[in-house]
Amino acid sequence: MNTLKNDTFLRALLRQPTDYTPIWLMRQAGRYLPEYCQTRRRAGSFMDLCRNPHLACEVTLQPLARYDLDAAILFSDILTVPDAMGLGLYFAEGEGPKFERPLREEWAIRNLAAPDPGVELRYVLDAVAEIRRALNGSVPLIGFSGSPFTLACYMIEGGASDDFRTIKTMLYDRPDLLHHVLDVNTKAVTAYLNAQIEAGAQAVMIFDTWGGVLSRRAYGEFSLAYMRRIVAGLKREHDGARIPRIVFTKGGGQWLEEIAAIGCDAVGLDWTADIGAARERVGGKVALQGNLDPSILFAQPEKIAQEAHAILDAFGPGSGHVFNLGHGISQFTPPEHVTALVDAVHTHSRKQRQA
Ligand code: CP3
Repeated sequence: MNTLKNDTFLRALLRQPTDYTPIWLMRQAGRYLPEYCQTRRRAGSFMDLCRNPHLACEVTLQPLARYDLDAAILFSDILTVPDAMGLGLYFAEGEGPKFERPLREEWAIRNLAAPDPGVELRYVLDAVAEIRRALNGSVPLIGFSGSPFTLACYMIEGGASDDFRTIKTMLYDRPDLLHHVLDVNTKAVTAYLNAQIEAGAQAVMIFDTWGGVLSRRAYGEFSLAYMRRIVAGLKREHDGARIPRIVFTKGGGQWLEEIAAIGCDAVGLDWTADIGAARERVGGKVALQGNLDPSILFAQPEKIAQEAHAILDAFGPGSGHVFNLGHGISQFTPPEHVTALVDAVHTHSRKQRQA
């Protein structure tokens, strides 16, 4: 059993009492930090940075050196999994992620296989172990993966998409093919997350960035059902500690009850949801993570504090809330504004506990 100096984040996920509301930020290590940009330049490219456990560890720790955050998140990307399946991930400058060999043909789909995380994704597991050593019990480390559906979006579209035309055509015309891709992705993600847990990840999060573009029925069948299978297949405990699992479907606010019922410990909320109403709907079952609009970080520190207080007040007293943004932090965020947010969340939530 590893003792942590600050386990507030893990306690909040399990809805155990805490002295204050913990906070971390999606994409907390990223381009808004000048030190990140410097390390990335040294690495050569984003993927070189991900593939170098030593540099991945360095950037994971950068936001923790600046801010009083309550968790670290592994520095990597969700698309390392399809890359390990042989699709050839690359980042075209200014265009986001792309695949050299998008998954379109039936023969390629039939040949798709889950990678062995201990081999093809060894560099991620090595980064997890190195980060755990460097954290030295200060705060917990979060591991993560994309959801099977969100990974399939990039694999089949070949990159970002406005309308998801290719994958939605397959969904309606050849559901058997899409189900096959999702089945392989589910096996891959389950093995990958379990390997991260064995390497030292103390909580895991599934990013379902694109589940929210589906109809309610399609979401249940093509995204949620597979995340339920993953959660059921994850190691519940490691090293004597429970491993909480967070599920985040961007745009999933309408389906909270269904998401909360898949066996996860916490549900991530984007900024369109009212967190107080969300707590009433599912708070007896899961913790909630979120949900400040990332754009609020462009405003002045007083406004940032005011908006953070409003979210804490809407959630109300008691545990079961991990403060976060409703999506990843923008590269245009002034770094000092994050200090204001972290302070506001810690100070106001301590006062709430004393009231
Ligand atoms: O939160 C963290 O600090 C951990 C690291 C992390 C990254 N990506 C680093 C990254 C995590 C958890 C992700 C998840 C991820 N990656 C998601 C799901 C969450 C979400 O944001 O919706 C998705 C969809 C991706 C795919 C991806 N990777 C995209 C769309 C991009 C381009 C983004 C952009 O703004 O250009 C990436 C690249 C990426 N992943 C960056 C970072 C810090 C920026 C890369 C750079 O340095 O140029």
